Amino acid sequence: FQQRRQASQCSSVNNIEEDIRALQLDSSAEGGKVVPNENGGEPEEPAAPDNMEEDLRDESHAASHMEEDAESQTVHSEPKAAVEVKEQTTSASELVEDDVEKNKKRHLNVVFIGHVDAGKSTIGGQILYLSGQVDERTIQKYEKEAKDKSRESWYMAYIMDTNEEERAKGKTVEVGRAHFETETTRYTILDAPGHKSYVPNMISGASQADIGVLVISARKGEFETGYERGGQTREHVQLAKTLGVSKLLVVVNKMDDSTVNWSKERYDEIESKMVPFLRSSGYNVKKDIQFLPISGLYGTNLQTRMSKTVCPWWDGQCLFEVLDVIDVPLRDPKAPFRMPIIDKFKDMGTVVMGKVESGSVREGSNLLIMPNKVQVKVVALYCDEDRCRSAAPGENLRVRVSGIEEEDILSGFVLSSVEKPIAAVYEFVAQLHILELLENAIFTAGYKAILHIHAVVEECEIIELMQQIDPKTRKPMKKKVLFVKNGAVVICRIQVTNMICIEKFSEFQQLGRFTLRTEGKTVAIGKVTELGA
Ligand code: GTP
Ligand code: MG
Repeated sequence: FQQRRQASQCSSVNNIEEDIRALQLDSSAEGGKVVPNENGGEPEEPAAPDNMEEDLRDESHAASHMEEDAESQTVHSEPKAAVEVKEQTTSASELVEDDVEKNKKRHLNVVFIGHVDAGKSTIGGQILYLSGQVDERTIQKYEKEAKDKSRESWYMAYIMDTNEEERAKGKTVEVGRAHFETETTRYTILDAPGHKSYVPNMISGASQADIGVLVISARKGEFETGYERGGQTREHVQLAKTLGVSKLLVVVNKMDDSTVNWSKERYDEIESKMVPFLRSSGYNVKKDIQFLPISGLYGTNLQTRMSKTVCPWWDGQCLFEVLDVIDVPLRDPKAPFRMPIIDKFKDMGTVVMGKVESGSVREGSNLLIMPNKVQVKVVALYCDEDRCRSAAPGENLRVRVSGIEEEDILSGFVLSSVEKPIAAVYEFVAQLHILELLENAIFTAGYKAILHIHAVVEECEIIELMQQIDPKTRKPMKKKVLFVKNGAVVICRIQVTNMICIEKFSEFQQLGRFTLRTEGKTVAIGKVTELGA
C-alpha cells in the first residue's frame, strides 16, 4: 500500500511539473509564437499559483469545452426559460432544416457574473428587448408590476427574473437562460445570481459558459462593496477562471447614474483597480480581458455605439460588436462523447440536460449513463429550445433518452460514449490551491468540504496531504506536511462517498478542475492529477 502511494505521489508530482512547464509556456505564447509577457514586469498583486491549473490555452481538443457544474441547491425542475418559447407549430422536418441553417452560425454561451445588483439581469433583459424578443406591451406590463412591488427600476430585470421570489426581492436566484442572435453568432445567455447565498447556482452557470461578461456597477459605493473582500466581484472572477471561462468582458455598468454621469475618471479608477486583480486571478489582461462602459438600464453602448454627446471620451466598440468578434473556443466533434448532466426531468420519457463537452451526438445514438453504466438510446435532441437531429460540442442540449428512468439519474452523472466511457472513481489525487479557509479552520487530513466538479456536487474528505508545492518556485517542497494555511498549494488525496465521473485535468480540463466549498464559501480550487481506486 505504501509503495502504491509512493508511486502515485511521484507520478503526480511529475505531472504537475510538466503542467507547470506547459503553463509557463502557455502564459506567454500566443498562436504558437512566443510573445513577451504583456505585463512587462511584475504584477501588482502576486500571481496566483493556481494559474497553473487555469491558464491552459484551449489548444487540445479537451481544452475547448467548459465544464458543467453543480446545481446543488436548485430543485430538479424544468429549467427556467427567461423568454417564453414560441409555440412550435412547424413540422419536424422544417425544424431540422431550420436547425441546420442555424448551425451555420457559430454558437457562444455567455455567462453574466458579478456582485449582487450590478445589473446583470437588467442587461440580459435589455439585450432581449433590443434584439426584438420583448414587445412594448410586455415591457409596460413589467413596468407596472415592478412599480406595484416598489421596484420601479427593476422592470428590465423582470425579463430575465421570471419567478415571484426573484421579482419580489429584486435578486436572481436561479440561472436565467435566454437566446439571441446577431448576423454572425447565436448566443445563449446565462444570467447568474450575484447574491452570495446562490454561489452554487453561479458555479453552475459559469461552468456552462464559453466566455463571461463581468458586470460592475460604477455607482458610488457599489463598485467598492463588490470589490471588497467578501464581495462577489472577486469570488466570481476566481470561480469563473477555475471553471474555464477563459475570456471576460468587463462591463462597467450604470454609467448613466447621477453619481457617475459617464465620468472618465470613475471608469478609469475601476479599470485600474480591476486590472491587477484580474491578473492575479490568472487572466492575461491584454489577451483575455476587455473593458467597456455601458448603461444596461438605458441600453447605451449595447447594440449600437453610443454618441459622443452621451460619452465624449469613448471611442471603442459596443457590447454586441465585441461579442461578435470574440474567439469561440476550439471544439473537437470527433472526441469521445461527454455530456455532464446538470438536470433531468420527465417529459414524454426521460430528459437529461447539459452541455456537450466533447464529441457529437445524433438521434438514435447509443450512449452510456455513467457511473451507473446504463445503456440508453437518444430518442430526441433539443438544441437550446429547438429540435435538432445532431449536435456538436459546446451546445446546450436537452436529450430525451430511452432505457432509463428519471429517478435513476442524478445531476453530475455523465452521458458518455459507449466505446470510451468516462472513468468513475471514489478517490483521486489533486493539486489544490487553498484560497481562504474559514476562521480557525486547519486544512489537514480529515478536512471535509463540498466538491464541485463539472455537474457533480459531493461531500468529500481530504485523506492525505501528500506534498506541498512552493507557490513561488512552483517546485515540490521536501518537508512532509501535516497541515497547510491560506495561499498554500498542496497535493492531496481526496475521497468521496459516492462514485463520481471525472477526468485528469491534463487530459480534459473541463472535467478535471474543481472547487472546494465549506459553509457556503469557496475555500480552494484544484485540478485532478490522478484518478484513484
Ligand atoms: P442579482 O441578480 O441580484 O445579482 O442582481 P443583478 O446584477 O441581476 O441586478 P439587476 O439587473 O437586478 O439590477 C439591480 C438594480 O440596478 C435595479 O434597480 C436596476 O434598475 C439597477 N440598474 C441596472 N442597470 C442599471 C444601469 O445601467 N443604470 C442604472 N441607473 N441602474 C441600473
Ligand atoms: Mg439578476
